[in-house]
Amino acid sequence: MKINEIAGEEGLGLLRSILGPLRLEPGAHEAMLATFRRELEEVGDNRIICVGEVDGETVATVQLILKDADGDPELADGRTIAHVHHLRVRQNRQGKGFARRIMADVESRAKALGFGTLTLGVDDTNGVARELYRSLGYVEFKAEAGRSPGETLLLLRKSTLTT
Ligand SMILES: CC(C)(COP(=O)(O)OP(=O)(O)OC[C@H]1O[C@@H](n2cnc3c(N)ncnc32)[C@H](O)[C@@H]1OP(=O)(O)O)[C@@H](O)C(=O)NCCC(=O)NCCS
Repeated sequence: MKINEIAGEEGLGLLRSILGPLRLEPGAHEAMLATFRRELEEVGDNRIICVGEVDGETVATVQLILKDADGDPELADGRTIAHVHHLRVRQNRQGKGFARRIMADVESRAKALGFGTLTLGVDDTNGVARELYRSLGYVEFKAEAGRSPGETLLLLRKSTLTT
């Protein structure tokens, strides 16, 4: 998998293609694109957005938020702590190790920028992602109300990037 940082309209096209065969609620596809568009506006300042490509197809994406993640300095502080956001692997490419590979890449980028700690949020109901992060050494340090009623957002961190 070839992993590159993206920006602008070209980046939006690459992110659009990752949504390809996803079956989403009506309107959810457009909402996700609007979110990607907003996030791309922060590239170069607060955000690095990466995509992984295999055989000319975008198969994975992940973001690194550098200094402001929901205004919570425990999640990103621009100096020592950065926040991993929106890890996604194209549905028909899941289970092939792409998430593991793009996570390793984003950890190296964070380390090269001097960050020693990475944080991320995961829904308590997302067993696959929780197992991935557990296996990569991320541990829970706090929890917040999730996006849906009854759901909890678990906040995890890994503090060994400099060792
Ligand atoms: C979570 C997600 C990114 C995993 O991507 P993936 O490319 O399929 O993951 P990988 O193949 O790299 O597998 C990594 C680990 O995830 C876990 N995993 C992957 N598929 C799994 C499954 N079906 N059941 C249980 N665990 C699974 C395993 O721990 C696996 O490690 P292993 O293969 O060494 O056992 C992908 O399912 C996805 O995009 N989901 C939708 C978006 C999402 O939930 N993102 C996370 C937001 S916090």
